[in-house]
Amino acid sequence: MQHILSSEQFREAAAVDEILNAAVELAAADAAGSLPACLAGKLIACLFFEPSTRTRLSFTAAALKLGGQVMGMEHGTVSSSVSKGETMYDTGRVVSGLADAIVIRHAREGAADEAARDSAVPVINAGDGGNQHPTQALLDVYTIWQETGRLRDLHIVMAGDLLYGRTIHSTLTLLSLYAGNHFYFVAPKRLRLPDTYIALLKQRNITFTETEDLREVLPVADVVYMTRVQQERFTDVTEYERYKGAYFLDAALLARLGPRAVIMHALPRVHEMALEVDADPRAAYFRQAKNGLYIRMAILQLLLA
Ligand code: NCD
Repeated sequence: MQHILSSEQFREAAAVDEILNAAVELAAADAAGSLPACLAGKLIACLFFEPSTRTRLSFTAAALKLGGQVMGMEHGTVSSSVSKGETMYDTGRVVSGLADAIVIRHAREGAADEAARDSAVPVINAGDGGNQHPTQALLDVYTIWQETGRLRDLHIVMAGDLLYGRTIHSTLTLLSLYAGNHFYFVAPKRLRLPDTYIALLKQRNITFTETEDLREVLPVADVVYMTRVQQERFTDVTEYERYKGAYFLDAALLARLGPRAVIMHALPRVHEMALEVDADPRAAYFRQAKNGLYIRMAILQLLLA
């Protein structure tokens, strides 16, 4: 594996499991204060052309805690030569001469692929528009495994913006490598899952249900993955306003969930859940965010060490 650009490049569960197992070891080593300095002498470039809290900081923390070094940009659209019209292709080629790996987030679908085309070093897609976010998918799958003890035969509810939600696209792609999972896709018609993912699931013989009703599917859920309506992908603000509160998890809805269900959210959460959900032991989203550190350590170790 040279680059990590899309969840679709993982063709079998074993390739995912390898990263999950490495993350378990790194989490244990971190707890024991014995992390390896396996990135010593390696420089990671974090190129961010879109806002980020978790992804950028967890890649940075992962690299530093494994003895690596980090450089980069937070506001690439205005601060880099991209603002002068430089392409992602040229940016990738130039930075690949300076760093040992490139982590890149951009609002345009395919931006990371373009940077990777002739990059001499691994390129990691940290989110390209409404397309893919494969490292989030790995930490999501890791979280489900840690919380439920399995990755097969799960009833997985994904609710909210399934059209533009890149975490959803990447996570369902990885989960569909494991047999027996059934998805419940909950979205308004305007925000339903793109047909390419419907086709992928059919090709992999993974069953699913599409509905607009979150309430009705909660009782059977092993996992409920809430998502933010992706404001930045809408050209019409009034349309965003119409959908932003489409699904809201509160105490009344929680009462319909099974006792061992897992509540997930890639964060940031804005209009998707009441604060009272935080106190529920089934709320896994802060553990999910923390897991990003170990998954990103595992990824950097796999690609570089
Ligand atoms: C997600 C993203 O950027 O796609 N955030 C993240 O990386 N944790 C989800 C979102 O912004 O809604």
